[in-house]
Amino acid sequence: MFRQPSVLAPALAVLLFLQPLPPAGSRPPSGPEYLRRGWQRLLDEGEGCGPCQPEECPTPRGCLAGRVLDACDCCWECANLEGQLCDLDPEGHFYGRCGEHLECRLDAGGDLQRGEVPEPQCLCRSTSPLCGSDGRTYAQICSFQEAARAWPQANLSVMHSGPCEAEPQILSPPRDIWNVTGQDVIFGCEVFAYPMASIEWRKDGTETLLPGDDPHISVQFRGGPQRFEVTGWLQIQAIRSSDEGTYRCLARNALGQTTASASLTVFTLDQLNNTNISLLNSLNPTPEEEYDNEEEDDYY
Ligand SMILES: *[C@@H]1O[C@H](CO)[C@@H](O)[C@H](O)[C@H]1NC(C)=O
Ligand SMILES: *[C@@H]1O[C@H](CO)[C@@H](O)[C@H](O)[C@H]1NC(C)=O
Ligand SMILES: *[C@@H]1O[C@H](CO)[C@@H](O)[C@H](O)[C@H]1NC(C)=O
Ligand SMILES: *[C@@H]1O[C@H](CO)[C@@H](O)[C@H](O)[C@H]1NC(C)=O
Repeated sequence: MFRQPSVLAPALAVLLFLQPLPPAGSRPPSGPEYLRRGWQRLLDEGEGCGPCQPEECPTPRGCLAGRVLDACDCCWECANLEGQLCDLDPEGHFYGRCGEHLECRLDAGGDLQRGEVPEPQCLCRSTSPLCGSDGRTYAQICSFQEAARAWPQANLSVMHSGPCEAEPQILSPPRDIWNVTGQDVIFGCEVFAYPMASIEWRKDGTETLLPGDDPHISVQFRGGPQRFEVTGWLQIQAIRSSDEGTYRCLARNALGQTTASASLTVFTLDQLNNTNISLLNSLNPTPEEEYDNEEEDDYY
């Protein structure tokens, strides 16, 4: 049964070690899809391509990146998604082929540790955002198609190229802060909006648009960090007890507005000395507790 070239034998041995050979007729082992497929390919290549009998091909289901022909150009199988490993060599069949609108590239721009080798992965050929019929902005056609295939019942279609026009979304809201009198504090507010949004800061309970005429408060705005984003900062220098309160970031464009707020707690040195440290630690969220915008991945 194993007639693969001997150069493949060590790799096969490793894979067999990781994924014990299932009894004949059982389902292929679960585990990372690319690993399973690489494993199957090694077996298949060992057996050569043989005559193609399409009626014996399994029907691939739930292919989020569409379908491609297998190494023998015989059966359809699921193509690899954006971000999955792929074979840089077009003749290679280890990781599999990238789906529609994707190409296999070495991602040079990644945050590789020193000495790490970049791995080829499927990347979208397009970087043009588009607006889906669900009113969401997709980073490019690849993430749109992935969503459309994942929820066929949603009947997604492309409304137009460019982001959807919508009220602003706050991607990263300001975080609660405490500190002692005399220190400087900064609140940040990262907003996605198309059309472009303006950002305003106010303290709850007052109508004054900050910084007002208060010389120890300043505000700054800058486009970014991503396209169609704008970030605003509110800085309060040498905080005093009277600065305590809730500060609100308000992002507004022609279609609407969104707000997010965070509190500032000011301790005097006296109070700090009498305050339980474990209580203080619970006041400042650790980075893990930061607003989670994981689900925005496909969008902006
Ligand atoms: C999906 O689109 C098709 C064709 O445009 C239409 O016939 C069908 O009613 C739509 N289904 C839903 C749930 O909107
Ligand atoms: C208080 O402010 C100082 C200077 O702005 C900063 O270095 C320090 O980390 C802050 N302390 C806390 C608990 O956030
Ligand atoms: C707070 O405590 C430290 C040492 O525990 C002391 O040096 C400092 O003077 C105290 N500060 C105040 C304002 O009481
Ligand atoms: C500080 O808080 C911890 C846990 O919340 C508690 O066990 C400890 O007794 C407190 N210490 C003081 C001095 O209040």
